[in-house]
Amino acid sequence: MESVSHENRKFEPHPDFAKDAYIGSPEAYRELYEKSIADPEAFWAEAAEELDWFKKWDKVLDESEAPFFKWFPGAKTNLCYNCVDRHLKGPNRNKAALIWEGEPGDTRVLTYQDVHREVCKFANGLKQIGVKKGDRVAIYLPMIPELTLAVLACARIGAVHTVIFAGFSAESIRDRINDCGATCVITADGGWRRERVLSLKNTVDEALEGVDSVSNVVVVKRAHGDPFPCHYKEGRDHWYHRLVQDQPIDCPCEEMDAEDMLFLLYTSGTTGKPKGIIHTTAGYMLYTYLTTKYIFDLKPDDVFWCTADVGWITGHSYIVYGPMQNAATQIMYEGAPNTPDEGRFWEIVEKYRATIFYTAPTAIRAFMKWGDKWLEKHDLSSLRLLGTVGEPINPEAWIWYHKQVGAERCPIVDTWWQTETGGHMLTPIPGATATKPGCATVPFFGIEPAILTDEGEEVDAGILAIKKPWPGILRGIYGDPERFKDTYWCKWDGKYYFPGDGARRDKDGYIWILGRVDDVVNVSGHRIGTAELESVFVEHKDVAESAVVGVPHEIKGQGLIAFVTVIQGREHDDHLRKELVEMIDKSIGKFARPERILFSSDLPKTRSGKIMRRLLRDIAEGKELGNTTTLADPSVVEELQRQYEEA
Ligand code: PRX
Repeated sequence: MESVSHENRKFEPHPDFAKDAYIGSPEAYRELYEKSIADPEAFWAEAAEELDWFKKWDKVLDESEAPFFKWFPGAKTNLCYNCVDRHLKGPNRNKAALIWEGEPGDTRVLTYQDVHREVCKFANGLKQIGVKKGDRVAIYLPMIPELTLAVLACARIGAVHTVIFAGFSAESIRDRINDCGATCVITADGGWRRERVLSLKNTVDEALEGVDSVSNVVVVKRAHGDPFPCHYKEGRDHWYHRLVQDQPIDCPCEEMDAEDMLFLLYTSGTTGKPKGIIHTTAGYMLYTYLTTKYIFDLKPDDVFWCTADVGWITGHSYIVYGPMQNAATQIMYEGAPNTPDEGRFWEIVEKYRATIFYTAPTAIRAFMKWGDKWLEKHDLSSLRLLGTVGEPINPEAWIWYHKQVGAERCPIVDTWWQTETGGHMLTPIPGATATKPGCATVPFFGIEPAILTDEGEEVDAGILAIKKPWPGILRGIYGDPERFKDTYWCKWDGKYYFPGDGARRDKDGYIWILGRVDDVVNVSGHRIGTAELESVFVEHKDVAESAVVGVPHEIKGQGLIAFVTVIQGREHDDHLRKELVEMIDKSIGKFARPERILFSSDLPKTRSGKIMRRLLRDIAEGKELGNTTTLADPSVVEELQRQYEEA
């Protein structure tokens, strides 16, 4: 990310945008921000009045058991109620909630009334097979409306959903189900991706071998069994369409306590297996509601399109919960951006007159590479706001997005946040903040960032820290409170939340995200722990040791390079390479494949035996190596360098 350190272009919000925006000037932002910091409880209580509650809170924030914060203790509400039921009272009842397009071109439109009916039937079906409040339900679905309906149906009855991105392998599904003890899985026979059917149900069947906790599997018919006829296990499996067909069209919402668990979402960390991030009801609800409203400046006439998958946090917060609480009309698309050709996204923008478009830098870089001709074929004049998320955006891609997609008219919100934060943390406010290419700019309301050294000194460039709790903050790691404290709160003795990113502050006070400071890598916006790959490689009988590092990648942002030490005397050739790649596919998923696998007789280590990852990164980036005298055996590096150049 060196290119951002001398980027100084600045773009003021377009006056046409600012004049109608909720927050239309720097002063308006500053006033609200200062209010939110001076008296956060008053700020959040006032915002919470915009939502529906079965019972109001006794207190806004309870910090007595920090870092296990409680927001709105005493309150009772339901997320599904706020996403659906409350819109049935007014003019939004017959408004399109979901405009869905399948990859083969089939379409469906569901109004809020339709969503209510379908969610109620789904919820009643789940209840019929024994799912109840507090049960964990794993969802492994393609991007079809039933994914949103399943999430909302769980929220309605108080079941804890854990959505697993449909690119994950059977082993990954099994690990997640075992970790949280899910009793029910919702899946589909298949889903479309690049003109092929992904056989999701078969993957689930494989995942469930030897798993005792799951007694029910609900299967949506999407691919019609062709070309993957799917197995049906009597007594365990239920076709979704049969389960819901005779269900009553109403289902009462469970009255949830503010801190009742809403969902678990597994994400990668520095060590060990992915961790189940816990989000609870009231705080997450309010935070996703308010960030969606202000950061996307979401208005009743907007057509909102977030291109993420519901399997990641972006989809949870900005496809399901945030937009639906705001009664948005949104586009949902099942498949790949280049099927049947590279113009698919722009065709969709034109066809449905999308006004807000939210995507990842990796997609923007791919669009750039595919060329402007794909955009020129379509009318993109409906767009009024653009967003990016998931990884740092390089200024070149930002400028391309600004010019080619936004016609220099649309503000770009570069939103920095994480699975753990629930919603946007650092981001331009579209009508108020002048943007800079590659910069996440300023904090959202109630967020107090700091940039610190390891010792906690404030500096201009260092490690990002967040001072106060905010409503959307994670409440824990499932089954592991100690890991929660260690990972996020111990770095600065409980005084700050530690997100794991580096950052710098410029002369205007803007914050630039510089990427992770730990061993987490962002490949095409997918968060992967290098330790996860390493533990897969060492399971191979011929592998002694391995180290995986992230390196800059033109399209993916970062790519993975694996260094593998083979047990003396064993073969290391393309055959082994193929086996190792297959192991990654099987244990994690194809999206976690490394770019390259290099073999060596050893890894560079300090004399105390610590692998020098910095040096491995330098080798993988083809950089000059600095001082290698602290190495136990300097010849190891020469061998790796030679191999890297030859490969
Ligand atoms: O490194 C940051 C990067 O993505 C990480 C969080 O990944 P995940 O939990 O999967 O959530 C992604 C979607 C919110 C962060 O620690 N990241 C996310 N957004 C940005 C970003 N890096 C720079 N700029 C961003 N806008």
